[in-house]
Amino acid sequence: MNTELDPLLQWHQDEKAWWNMYGDYMTYQWQLTPYLHDVIRTPLENEYVDYLLKPGGRLLDLGCGSGWLSFHFAEQGMSVLGIDVAKEQINAANELKLSRGVKNVSFECADFIAWDSSQYVGAFDSVFVSAFMHHLPEVELEQTVQKIASVVKQGGRVFLYEPLTSARPRRLTIKLIDRVSSLGLLLLLDKFPKWLGLISERHTAELARGYKMTSPHERPVDVALLRKFCGNEFEISEIKGWHLHSLGFSMQVTALREGARKYYEPLGRFWYGLDRLLFRRFGWESFSLPGRFILCGVKLTKK
Ligand SMILES: C[S@@+](CC[C@H](N)C(=O)[O-])C[C@H]1O[C@@H](n2cnc3c(N)ncnc32)[C@H](O)[C@@H]1O
Repeated sequence: MNTELDPLLQWHQDEKAWWNMYGDYMTYQWQLTPYLHDVIRTPLENEYVDYLLKPGGRLLDLGCGSGWLSFHFAEQGMSVLGIDVAKEQINAANELKLSRGVKNVSFECADFIAWDSSQYVGAFDSVFVSAFMHHLPEVELEQTVQKIASVVKQGGRVFLYEPLTSARPRRLTIKLIDRVSSLGLLLLLDKFPKWLGLISERHTAELARGYKMTSPHERPVDVALLRKFCGNEFEISEIKGWHLHSLGFSMQVTALREGARKYYEPLGRFWYGLDRLLFRRFGWESFSLPGRFILCGVKLTKK
């Protein structure tokens, strides 16, 4: 008897199990460094809120996780639906809803691909997709884009914040910049903390129970495929690089003991500034490497 699971089913089971197991630690990590969060995320948050906010309108937060982003919109008068496949994440989102006393937000536990969206055709003014698509198998990307297109109104807006990859070759200058900054990060965030015993007890315990910084199947989305799949349904008004090393930096800082974190946090400002400078000067695609996470913001409008 063949006991092997269908590869797609296996993919989804692995991802769901990972999020149920480690989603709470990820949420905890994000809350650890408000200073870094402020430096690295606030300009991005201003941009997607500006783009998607329509008081009185409806917003879908796709792959909402613990729901923390849904509240940006619900608390400013949008009616929000958050969907996530991980039960633990939806439970956390519902707890957050209770503690914040927000009524115009609801959460549903569902796999987006299998989700019955028939009652939502053309229902949403805005769709927010933050760090969700890169968890899907490539064969489901087109289906996902079409399903998003079916639930958004004509003229409605979609903002994707996803790691993207491009086939553009790296120039020598870029390779040199990459070498230097990667070495700096390796020393600062990996070697020194290990040599000096700066890793927090919680992080050590999470590593011992199998935690890795990334889920089993996540990998950046090919920008050429994204353009192709979105092109029929949407106007693509912008694809902007946001984070090269700074997001990884801020994630890794959360692995450190509290005493060490406060010395590292101001350095995040430097790495964020460097990302912004390099992207302005060379464009995000120049830094693409297979498997490298370059976090980009994509603005779409439904045709
Ligand atoms: C990196 S987290 C992003 C959470 C939140 N959007 C944020 O930016 O903090 C990705 C989320 O996508 C969810 N997810 C992965 N595959 C999914 C699917 N097929 N349908 C719905 N949610 C899914 C995971 O459970 C996880 O909570």
